[in-house]
Amino acid sequence: MPKIVPIKILKTMKEEYEILKLGNPILRRTAKEVSKEEILSENIQNLIDDMWNVMEKAGGIGLAAPQIGISIQLAVIKLESSSDRYENLEDSEEFIIFNPELEVINSEKQGFWEGCLSVPGLRGYVKRPKKLKISYLNEKAEKKEVIVEDFLATVFQHELDHLFGYLYVDRLDSTKDLVFEDELVNITKDKILD
Ligand code: NI
Repeated sequence: MPKIVPIKILKTMKEEYEILKLGNPILRRTAKEVSKEEILSENIQNLIDDMWNVMEKAGGIGLAAPQIGISIQLAVIKLESSSDRYENLEDSEEFIIFNPELEVINSEKQGFWEGCLSVPGLRGYVKRPKKLKISYLNEKAEKKEVIVEDFLATVFQHELDHLFGYLYVDRLDSTKDLVFEDELVNITKDKILD
């Protein structure tokens, strides 16, 4: 595998990472896989810390590396019950996911109002399969498998879509299911995600 990590981008958190928005071509790339050696490197370990910081600061519950301009297959996910932005969330463990593979276990679909830090101000009602098996490497470059269902299944599919060039707006059945979040308050109190 070629060297893929642009060192200059990963060097420091002193400069704040910018969250890229819909229209930026980096969000449309298939991100590169990360080797075990790279996962264990100082640069990537620092990047993981930076991703948590960026996500927390933005009030999100998941973040994919391409969203901060780094086109590698890395995403972090953590649901927080203490979140002000989301109602009725249960705490999840912290997931650090490299090189994921998704396998649908139950293809029956469930819908949630999704949001995205890369699509600020909007929400879309997206229906996705309700149960999946995710195989990935964790931050120690160990092979992991997790079964996800309900809202967590949607969060995983949303975040991992970012690693393959997709955004939730691509998953809408209809543009009628896309609204400004100010208006969403009038429609529903369903869970949303960022
Ligand atoms: Ni997103």
